[in-house]
Amino acid sequence: MNKLNTEKYYNDTFPKTIDILNSSPKYDSKTKEEKINLIKQLLDEKDAKIVAHYYTHEDLQEVAELTGGNVSDSLEMARFGANQASKTLIVAGVRFMGETAKILSPDKKILMPTLEAECSLDLNCPASELKKFSDKYPEREIVVYANTSAEVKAMADWVVTSSIAVKLIEYLKKENIKVIWAPDKHLGNYINEKTNADMKLWNASCIVHEEFKAKALMNLKEKNKDAAVLVHPESPAEVVELADVVGSTSQLIKACKDLPHKKMIVATDNRIFYKMQKAAPEKTLIEAPTGGKGATCISCAHCPWMAMNNLDNLIETLIEEKNEIHIKEEIRKKAFVSTNRMIEFAKTL
Ligand code: 13P
Ligand code: SF4
Repeated sequence: MNKLNTEKYYNDTFPKTIDILNSSPKYDSKTKEEKINLIKQLLDEKDAKIVAHYYTHEDLQEVAELTGGNVSDSLEMARFGANQASKTLIVAGVRFMGETAKILSPDKKILMPTLEAECSLDLNCPASELKKFSDKYPEREIVVYANTSAEVKAMADWVVTSSIAVKLIEYLKKENIKVIWAPDKHLGNYINEKTNADMKLWNASCIVHEEFKAKALMNLKEKNKDAAVLVHPESPAEVVELADVVGSTSQLIKACKDLPHKKMIVATDNRIFYKMQKAAPEKTLIEAPTGGKGATCISCAHCPWMAMNNLDNLIETLIEEKNEIHIKEEIRKKAFVSTNRMIEFAKTL
């Protein structure tokens, strides 16, 4: 394995995100029920469906479900969007998710409650830098995580999400294909451990999962010996090592339901608790610690960019049909090839 040191490109963006989070919502005078009714009416008028990630506010997950939309992990969000007949998709999540929808459905209008919702993995993997890195290894195929820009996807041979990443790398290893993996180093390391494939790793991480602390998790486990530990593979290796189940958000929800344990310690964005609790109402969910000695928790188990989506900016987006995703057709066409390969590969599993 080879690691590259990249700079922290997102540092300038973070305070801006906090400012937006604190800005006052426009539709404050309406009750939640009134807002949901207005959204239902607007979705009908505009022939639109909502596709939301599990990490968004539970109000958004609720309204997506109530209106025939979808709440899921990154792979399922992409699949649902591509299979929808509606003219417009409202993608509640972060920008790469809106871009993925546009890549797969160029004829649909793709709107987002905010275009400011970034992802530290995407921000820390600029296409120009990845190009310099990959130029050193022309014999390798480039596999990128879905958490990347359309430009990066356009350079890649494969796009993949955490739910099928191990399977794809196993497949490539069988075919004797060496890979460049970008951008998440923790997910890359996890896959590498599992497959022992020949991988050169980019060095970026998710600011949310990076903060889970192994020592504090061990102490929590000690106090809750009957609990199962569920970990997203974007977490550091020491945290992954303590897991009973490692998986994508959908896989963790399934594990919560299927495992016999009555208690779950969960190391991923805590907004997932809404769906987990629905799937397994009888279970007790405990947030994995981001604190402990020497901890500098910025996100505290919740993605600040996912948190920028709310019912107010969703209403505003629907009324004004703003925050539309546009991708240059030349880039989109190239990104379609690597992204659609993921969709086709997933069908074989
Ligand atoms: P999945 O939902 O695909 O597990 O990915 C998590 C994520 O990174 C979303 O930000
Ligand atoms: Fe990106 Fe992490 Fe936020 Fe997901 S949770 S969007 S990986 S920063």
